Amino acid sequence: MPNIIIFGAPGSGKGTQSELLIERYNLHHISTGELLRGHISRQTELGKIADSFISKGQLIPDNLMIDIFADTIDNNPAALKGLILDGFPRTIPQAEGLKAMFEQRGMKVDAVIGLEVPEAELIDRLLKRGQVSGRSDDNLETINKRLDVYRSQTLPLRDYYINEGCYCAIEGTGTVEEIFGRIVEAVG
Ligand code: AP5
Ligand code: MG
Repeated sequence: MPNIIIFGAPGSGKGTQSELLIERYNLHHISTGELLRGHISRQTELGKIADSFISKGQLIPDNLMIDIFADTIDNNPAALKGLILDGFPRTIPQAEGLKAMFEQRGMKVDAVIGLEVPEAELIDRLLKRGQVSGRSDDNLETINKRLDVYRSQTLPLRDYYINEGCYCAIEGTGTVEEIFGRIVEAVG
Protein backbone atom coordinates (compact mmCIF):
# COMPACT_ATOMS: atom_id res chain seq x y z
CA MET A 1 0.00 0.00 0.00
CA PRO A 2 1.22 3.52 -0.72
CA ASN A 3 2.47 6.07 1.79
CA ILE A 4 1.06 9.44 0.83
CA ILE A 5 1.83 12.88 2.22
CA ILE A 6 -0.96 15.40 1.95
CA PHE A 7 0.76 18.74 1.83
CA GLY A 8 -0.44 22.33 1.81
CA ALA A 9 -0.96 25.54 3.72
CA PRO A 10 -3.26 25.92 6.71
CA GLY A 11 -6.82 25.62 5.38
CA SER A 12 -5.79 24.05 2.07
CA GLY A 13 -8.00 21.01 2.71
CA LYS A 14 -5.53 18.43 4.03
CA GLY A 15 -7.95 17.08 6.63
CA THR A 16 -10.95 17.18 4.31
CA GLN A 17 -9.22 15.33 1.47
CA SER A 18 -7.56 12.86 3.89
CA GLU A 19 -10.99 11.62 4.94
CA LEU A 20 -11.87 10.77 1.34
CA LEU A 21 -8.44 9.20 0.69
CA ILE A 22 -8.72 6.95 3.76
CA GLU A 23 -12.06 5.64 2.54
CA ARG A 24 -10.87 5.04 -0.99
CA TYR A 25 -7.45 3.51 -0.32
CA ASN A 26 -7.97 2.10 3.19
CA LEU A 27 -4.93 3.94 4.54
CA HIS A 28 -4.03 4.72 8.13
CA HIS A 29 -4.35 8.48 8.74
CA ILE A 30 -1.89 10.37 10.93
CA SER A 31 -2.65 14.06 11.43
CA THR A 32 -0.02 15.57 13.70
CA GLY A 33 -2.30 18.56 14.36
CA GLU A 34 -5.15 16.28 15.55
CA LEU A 35 -2.72 14.22 17.58
CA LEU A 36 -1.43 17.33 19.36
CA ARG A 37 -4.95 18.73 19.88
CA GLY A 38 -5.87 15.38 21.48
CA HIS A 39 -3.03 15.85 23.98
CA ILE A 40 -4.18 19.42 24.66
CA SER A 41 -7.74 18.33 25.41
CA ARG A 42 -6.50 15.49 27.67
CA GLN A 43 -4.20 18.05 29.36
CA THR A 44 -1.12 15.81 29.14
CA GLU A 45 2.42 17.17 29.66
CA LEU A 46 2.91 17.11 25.89
CA GLY A 47 -0.42 18.89 25.51
CA LYS A 48 0.79 21.77 27.66
CA ILE A 49 3.93 22.16 25.56
CA ALA A 50 1.98 21.83 22.30
CA ASP A 51 -0.60 24.40 23.38
CA SER A 52 2.09 27.01 23.97
CA PHE A 53 3.21 26.72 20.34
CA ILE A 54 -0.10 26.04 18.56
CA SER A 55 -1.97 28.97 20.09
CA LYS A 56 0.77 31.28 18.78
CA GLY A 57 0.76 29.72 15.31
CA GLN A 58 4.30 28.39 15.78
CA LEU A 59 5.61 24.91 15.05
CA ILE A 60 6.42 22.38 17.75
CA PRO A 61 10.24 21.90 17.78
CA ASP A 62 11.50 19.39 15.21
CA ASN A 63 13.19 16.94 17.60
CA LEU A 64 10.08 16.61 19.70
CA MET A 65 7.82 16.27 16.65
CA ILE A 66 10.04 13.60 15.05
CA ASP A 67 10.04 11.57 18.30
CA ILE A 68 6.26 11.83 18.62
CA PHE A 69 5.85 10.73 15.03
CA ALA A 70 8.21 7.73 15.39
CA ASP A 71 6.30 6.63 18.51
CA THR A 72 3.01 6.92 16.67
CA ILE A 73 4.16 4.71 13.81
CA ASP A 74 5.69 2.13 16.12
CA ASN A 75 2.53 1.90 18.22
CA ASN A 76 0.25 1.43 15.21
CA PRO A 77 0.85 -1.85 13.38
CA ALA A 78 -1.73 -0.68 10.81
CA ALA A 79 0.68 2.11 9.85
CA LEU A 80 2.93 -0.38 8.09
CA LYS A 81 0.13 -1.14 5.61
CA GLY A 82 0.05 2.33 4.09
CA LEU A 83 -0.17 5.80 5.53
CA ILE A 84 -1.61 9.15 4.82
CA LEU A 85 0.45 11.82 6.52
CA ASP A 86 -1.40 15.07 7.16
CA GLY A 87 0.65 17.96 8.55
CA PHE A 88 3.93 16.02 8.78
CA PRO A 89 6.61 16.67 7.66
CA ARG A 90 6.48 20.45 7.92
CA THR A 91 10.17 21.39 7.80
CA ILE A 92 13.25 20.10 5.97
CA PRO A 93 14.66 18.48 9.17
CA GLN A 94 11.31 16.67 9.63
CA ALA A 95 11.45 15.44 6.02
CA GLU A 96 14.99 14.15 6.57
CA GLY A 97 13.85 12.54 9.83
CA LEU A 98 10.94 10.88 8.03
CA LYS A 99 13.22 9.58 5.29
CA ALA A 100 15.55 7.98 7.84
CA MET A 101 12.62 6.53 9.81
CA PHE A 102 11.03 5.08 6.68
CA GLU A 103 14.34 3.63 5.47
CA GLN A 104 14.84 1.86 8.81
CA ARG A 105 11.38 0.31 8.46
CA GLY A 106 11.57 -0.60 4.75
CA MET A 107 9.07 2.12 3.80
CA LYS A 108 9.15 5.09 1.42
CA VAL A 109 7.16 8.17 0.46
CA ASP A 110 5.24 7.27 -2.72
CA ALA A 111 3.50 10.57 -3.41
CA VAL A 112 3.23 14.07 -2.05
CA ILE A 113 -0.12 15.60 -2.89
CA GLY A 114 0.37 19.38 -2.80
CA LEU A 115 -2.94 21.22 -2.42
CA GLU A 116 -2.36 24.66 -3.94
CA VAL A 117 -4.87 27.33 -2.87
CA PRO A 118 -4.63 31.15 -3.10
CA GLU A 119 -3.99 32.84 0.23
CA ALA A 120 -7.19 34.92 0.26
CA GLU A 121 -9.23 31.72 0.06
CA LEU A 122 -7.21 30.08 2.84
CA ILE A 123 -7.93 33.00 5.16
CA ASP A 124 -11.60 33.01 4.21
CA ARG A 125 -11.96 29.25 4.92
CA LEU A 126 -10.15 29.42 8.25
CA LEU A 127 -12.09 32.45 9.48
CA LYS A 128 -15.34 30.66 8.60
CA ARG A 129 -14.20 27.53 10.41
CA GLY A 130 -13.12 29.67 13.37
CA GLN A 131 -16.76 30.55 14.02
CA VAL A 132 -17.45 26.92 14.99
CA SER A 133 -14.17 25.03 15.47
CA GLY A 134 -13.10 26.24 18.90
CA ARG A 135 -9.50 25.96 17.65
CA SER A 136 -7.22 28.41 19.46
CA ASP A 137 -5.39 29.11 16.18
CA ASP A 138 -8.43 29.97 14.00
CA ASN A 139 -8.38 33.77 14.51
CA LEU A 140 -7.04 36.34 12.07
CA GLU A 141 -3.85 37.16 13.98
CA THR A 142 -2.84 33.52 14.43
CA ILE A 143 -3.94 32.59 10.91
CA ASN A 144 -1.55 35.25 9.54
CA LYS A 145 1.24 33.90 11.74
CA ARG A 146 0.53 30.32 10.55
CA LEU A 147 0.74 31.49 6.95
CA ASP A 148 4.09 33.25 7.61
CA VAL A 149 5.44 30.07 9.23
CA TYR A 150 4.12 28.04 6.29
CA ARG A 151 5.89 30.27 3.76
CA SER A 152 9.21 30.35 5.58
CA GLN A 153 9.48 26.84 7.07
CA THR A 154 7.12 24.51 5.21
CA LEU A 155 6.94 25.73 1.60
CA PRO A 156 10.64 24.81 0.98
CA LEU A 157 9.46 21.18 1.16
CA ARG A 158 7.70 21.67 -2.16
CA ASP A 159 11.09 21.95 -3.93
CA TYR A 160 12.52 19.22 -1.71
CA TYR A 161 9.87 16.74 -2.91
CA ILE A 162 10.01 18.00 -6.51
CA ASN A 163 13.71 17.03 -6.38
CA GLU A 164 12.78 13.65 -4.91
CA GLY A 165 10.48 13.20 -7.93
CA CYS A 166 7.26 12.54 -5.99
CA TYR A 167 5.49 15.94 -5.76
CA CYS A 168 2.07 16.20 -7.47
CA ALA A 169 0.67 19.74 -7.61
CA ILE A 170 -3.12 19.73 -7.24
CA GLU A 171 -5.31 22.76 -7.80
CA GLY A 172 -6.98 22.98 -4.40
CA THR A 173 -9.94 25.20 -5.32
CA GLY A 174 -13.42 24.14 -6.43
CA THR A 175 -15.70 21.67 -4.70
CA VAL A 176 -14.32 19.02 -2.35
CA GLU A 177 -15.35 16.35 -4.87
CA GLU A 178 -13.67 18.14 -7.81
CA ILE A 179 -10.43 18.37 -5.87
CA PHE A 180 -10.63 14.72 -4.80
CA GLY A 181 -11.13 13.74 -8.46
CA ARG A 182 -7.88 15.53 -9.36
CA ILE A 183 -6.05 13.71 -6.55
CA VAL A 184 -7.30 10.28 -7.63
CA GLU A 185 -6.25 11.02 -11.20
CA ALA A 186 -2.75 12.00 -10.01
CA VAL A 187 -2.28 9.09 -7.59
CA GLY A 188 -3.81 6.49 -9.92
P1 AP5 B 1 -2.71 21.33 11.65
O1 AP5 B 1 -3.81 20.80 12.47
O2 AP5 B 1 -2.01 20.46 10.72
O3 AP5 B 1 -3.29 22.63 10.95
P2 AP5 B 1 -2.94 23.40 9.58
O4 AP5 B 1 -1.81 22.86 8.81
O5 AP5 B 1 -2.85 24.81 10.00
O6 AP5 B 1 -4.14 23.09 8.69
P3 AP5 B 1 -5.68 23.01 9.02
O7 AP5 B 1 -5.96 21.75 9.77
O8 AP5 B 1 -6.16 24.28 9.62
O9 AP5 B 1 -6.26 22.96 7.56
P4 AP5 B 1 -6.36 21.73 6.54
O10 AP5 B 1 -5.37 21.89 5.47
O11 AP5 B 1 -6.42 20.42 7.27
O12 AP5 B 1 -7.76 22.07 5.91
P5 AP5 B 1 -9.22 21.51 6.29
O13 AP5 B 1 -9.50 20.27 5.53
O14 AP5 B 1 -9.38 21.51 7.75
O15 AP5 B 1 -1.60 21.98 12.61
C1 AP5 B 1 -1.99 22.86 13.65
C2 AP5 B 1 -0.78 23.28 14.46
O16 AP5 B 1 -0.19 22.12 15.09
C3 AP5 B 1 0.39 23.90 13.67
O17 AP5 B 1 0.22 25.28 13.46
C4 AP5 B 1 1.56 23.60 14.63
O18 AP5 B 1 1.57 24.48 15.72
C5 AP5 B 1 1.23 22.21 15.14
N1 AP5 B 1 1.79 21.15 14.28
C6 AP5 B 1 1.08 20.24 13.54
N2 AP5 B 1 1.91 19.45 12.86
C7 AP5 B 1 3.17 19.86 13.16
C8 AP5 B 1 4.46 19.45 12.72
N3 AP5 B 1 4.61 18.45 11.84
N4 AP5 B 1 5.53 20.11 13.21
C9 AP5 B 1 5.39 21.13 14.11
N5 AP5 B 1 4.20 21.57 14.53
C10 AP5 B 1 3.09 20.95 14.06
O19 AP5 B 1 -10.10 22.68 5.63
C11 AP5 B 1 -10.10 23.97 6.20
C12 AP5 B 1 -11.54 24.54 6.16
O20 AP5 B 1 -11.91 24.73 4.81
C13 AP5 B 1 -12.58 23.58 6.76
O21 AP5 B 1 -13.56 24.31 7.41
C14 AP5 B 1 -13.16 22.86 5.53
O22 AP5 B 1 -14.46 22.43 5.73
C15 AP5 B 1 -13.05 23.94 4.46
N6 AP5 B 1 -12.83 23.41 3.12
C16 AP5 B 1 -12.08 22.32 2.78
N7 AP5 B 1 -12.09 22.14 1.44
C17 AP5 B 1 -12.86 23.14 0.94
C18 AP5 B 1 -13.25 23.48 -0.40
N8 AP5 B 1 -12.85 22.77 -1.45
N9 AP5 B 1 -14.02 24.58 -0.56
C19 AP5 B 1 -14.44 25.33 0.53
N10 AP5 B 1 -14.11 25.03 1.80
C20 AP5 B 1 -13.32 23.96 2.00
MG1 MG C 1 -6.11 19.78 9.26
